[in-house]
Amino acid sequence: MNYQINMYDQPHEVLISEAEIKARVKEIAAELTEEYRGKNPVFVGVMRGVCVFFSDFIREFTDHCQIDFMSVSSYRGVHSTGECKITKDVSLELRNRHVIILEDIFDTGKSLDFTYNFILTKKPASVKIVTLLDKPARRKPWIDLQPDIVGFTIPDKFVVGYGLDYNEQFRNLPYVAAIDPEELHF
Ligand code: IMP
Ligand code: MG
Repeated sequence: MNYQINMYDQPHEVLISEAEIKARVKEIAAELTEEYRGKNPVFVGVMRGVCVFFSDFIREFTDHCQIDFMSVSSYRGVHSTGECKITKDVSLELRNRHVIILEDIFDTGKSLDFTYNFILTKKPASVKIVTLLDKPARRKPWIDLQPDIVGFTIPDKFVVGYGLDYNEQFRNLPYVAAIDPEELHF
């Protein structure tokens, strides 16, 4: 691995730079601004991994919109495990609204599949899925769902930064980096 030293002096490999993320976020926001012009869509962020992407994204979306958040618990450590559970529902009424779900990463696909079906029960006018990262190598074979927009497709590596964590660390890195948890020294 091409290791670099980060601000916490931990080994990691930068996969997507700050500049690359910025450009792609701008591009996606411009595309959706055109598509949803005059529709006042609701952006639903799935906490907490999406927080950085979400806040950068909505400031590049240049028409009326509303925002909301939900939490789904499904993830423990390096491997996704077991069932998904809604731990925080959205606050807005989504019936007949144009909803765009924003996620940090589409990994096994379980949590986004669950989230998507949960949002559908609220009878929105439309639902679109935008994920910053897609890790297709880890997709469970029974997941049919496809995100409508993917920021970046990444290899089968554990990534942190730009909202994504390892044991709640590294969410504040301004870029996306791959780590090997066994090489971290805390
Ligand atoms: P799923 O496996 O697609 O259900 O993803 C569940 C959640 O696991 C994602 O929303 C992320 O919060 C987290 N996750 C999946 N892959 C990674 C990773 O490489 N780094 C950090 N978090 C991840
Ligand atoms: Mg997530």
